[in-house]
Amino acid sequence: MRLLVTGGAGFIGSNFVRTTVAERSGVHVTVIDSMTYAANPATLADLVATGAVELVEADITDATVMDSLVSRLTGDDDAVVHFAAESHNDNSLSGPWPFVHSNIVGTFTLLETCRRHDVRLHHISTDEVYGDLAVDDPAKFTEETAYQPSSPYSATKASSDMLVRAWVRSYGLRATLSNCSNNYGPYQHVEKFIPRQITNILDGRRPRLYGSGANVRDWIHVDDHTSAVWAILDRGETGRTYLIGADGERTNLDLMREICRLMGVGEDGFDHVTDRPGHDLRYAIDASRTREELGWAPLLTDLREGLQHTIDWYSDHRDWWEPVKERVEARYAATERVL
Ligand code: NAD
Ligand code: DAU
Repeated sequence: MRLLVTGGAGFIGSNFVRTTVAERSGVHVTVIDSMTYAANPATLADLVATGAVELVEADITDATVMDSLVSRLTGDDDAVVHFAAESHNDNSLSGPWPFVHSNIVGTFTLLETCRRHDVRLHHISTDEVYGDLAVDDPAKFTEETAYQPSSPYSATKASSDMLVRAWVRSYGLRATLSNCSNNYGPYQHVEKFIPRQITNILDGRRPRLYGSGANVRDWIHVDDHTSAVWAILDRGETGRTYLIGADGERTNLDLMREICRLMGVGEDGFDHVTDRPGHDLRYAIDASRTREELGWAPLLTDLREGLQHTIDWYSDHRDWWEPVKERVEARYAATERVL
């Protein structure tokens, strides 16, 4: 089996690649990644050095490169797994164009290439396409929830999902989609909530909570996202959308306090800072259909334990994040104000 993994040098893509190489010896993995600021060359360096993974540094909007890579996928089970995207909401607010470029034009380019070569595609998307929920809403997002994205990031992801669905219906493209909740784990960029707070504490800085911290996110360990994507590749039905989540809802305030406790700083040893404009209040995924139909279940459901492993990973891999930390914090400092 051959897989072409787009965005495989980023957080979730690289974890997917690492697990695939470790657990699926019959799978040949090629990664295409344009190595934006979000990709750290050290992330896949060991796998590239041993030849376990082929890394092609190129943009997914480059139709010529995409054509030559996708044309190699000639087996019935071969597939493109599409992680590549601009992924950070805060960046999409300050500069939306790269999101339109990678998330919409990139997905369009990939769809056209897969259509030309009749190659299977799995498109990785997010729960943010559904907008947000009230804190006390008993409902969670399901496959039927209407799309109502709020940020430039989620609007471009919603657009890419719509393109994929149209290519399935109009051209018979063999595609599946998945919409997952907030991931955490190793190799996540330090601009994101959990690694930002962990590395702030490791660096002697104060963690930063947007607004009151009442916003709720539904956390899943990245390894559980990977196992769900493999369940879809193995048993998913063409044209279907699968929701992925692990019932991990927490307010940002509770999560912040947990990180502070686990890292031995006072529970209130953080600053409340300016809120994110348009900040989505709550995400919550109902993954019961994915569980029932694919026989998938998340394994790492103890968030406290997962956080401890993640803290240990960032403590042990300072060389991985330290080179970019100062730049990330300087960027935040330009707009953030302590409340
Ligand atoms: P990330 O920002 O860590 O990684 C994205 C990768 O894509 C980077 O390596 C980057 O260099 C690459 N990339 C960006 N534009 C590209 C382009 N035009 N051509 C080639 N490569 C390009 O993001 P992530 O958190 O790993 O997210 C991966 C995917 O999962 C995204 O599609 C995102 O929308 C989705 N997702 C993320 C989460 C989450 O919690 N992080 C949850 C659900 C879904
Ligand atoms: O829900 C899935 C989405 O999760 C993915 O589609 C996105 O790619 C991914 O980035 C993530 O989006 P969020 O905006 O939820 O993640 P982020 O880590 O940026 O923020 C998580 C929450 O924490 C959010 O409510 C904002 C808040 N926050 C964030 C940062 C960086 C803080 O309070 N302080 C911070 O310093």
